[in-house]
Amino acid sequence: MEDWEGYWEEDKFMKIVSGSSNKPLAEKIAKNLNTSLSGVEIFVFPDKERRIRILDKVLDSNCAVVQAADTPADQKYMELFFLVDGLKRSGAESVTAVIPYLGYQRQDHIFREGEAVSLQVIVETLEAVGVDKIITVDLHTIKIPELFKIPIIHLSALSIFAEKIKEIENNLRKIVLVSPDMGGIRRIKILSEMLGNCSYATINKDRDLSTGTVSAKEIEGEVDGKIAIIVDDMISTGNTILTAAKLLKEKGAEKIYVFATHGIFSDDAGKNLQNNLIGKVFVTDSVFISKEKCFEKLEVLTISTLIANNLK
Ligand code: R5P
Repeated sequence: MEDWEGYWEEDKFMKIVSGSSNKPLAEKIAKNLNTSLSGVEIFVFPDKERRIRILDKVLDSNCAVVQAADTPADQKYMELFFLVDGLKRSGAESVTAVIPYLGYQRQDHIFREGEAVSLQVIVETLEAVGVDKIITVDLHTIKIPELFKIPIIHLSALSIFAEKIKEIENNLRKIVLVSPDMGGIRRIKILSEMLGNCSYATINKDRDLSTGTVSAKEIEGEVDGKIAIIVDDMISTGNTILTAAKLLKEKGAEKIYVFATHGIFSDDAGKNLQNNLIGKVFVTDSVFISKEKCFEKLEVLTISTLIANNLK
């Protein structure tokens, strides 16, 4: 066999590049695909500007960039835009942006007169820098993919949650899935089907749009004497979960577990969730959770196989 034949064989595989936001997840995805991460240099200047340089040959290759857009989302998006630009200028055939957590997704439409639609700006910039396809996980609403002109694969961690729920409680009749707001009903209906149509309940949540304060008074559904499993797309301040947990306890829930795809854990969320109300909090590794943000009751489930299977 000539030397160059091996070169082309190797080159057929997808090249995986990681931004700096969630390298452990990118490494796991690469391992799942029997490869290792391609070389990239991310140099940070004293004024915090970033210089990106693609170190591997990517000419005519299909590439994937893994970059979660969690806090600080602006910086992480800029890094992603530069990585995509670097890959395109180096001749990449295609670039898939794997954005396990799509920052700014809660600003997907105008809530009050005069507001910007920040997510639309992000979407248009991703398209403008040359992203060919997006892979993301558990978006805030199922309408968000409609904002993209390029193909988007919207994955869900619900099947991973279903497996974990069966592991922690085998008597599914004792379980009630709880959506902490009306917007999450679709999510818990799907999960309920995965768990043999177990019962579910919904909380009527109110959020003050200017202060962000969350309140909840009513639950639709029976929770008394049940093991309540709160399911949400993300935890930021933790106020939604805490408000739901307090109400569930008041209404007689025996035990409370929390499942959320994205563990953003802003401010003191971790500390506040480490309390007597909640048995355990499960999130995925869609964003990297630093040691400082970890807490005893937290367990992180990986979505690396889910993503890798969609890159094959
Ligand atoms: C809101 O509609 C979302 O589904 C989450 O419930 C919310 O974003 C969580 O935010 P926080 O943890 O700050 O209450």
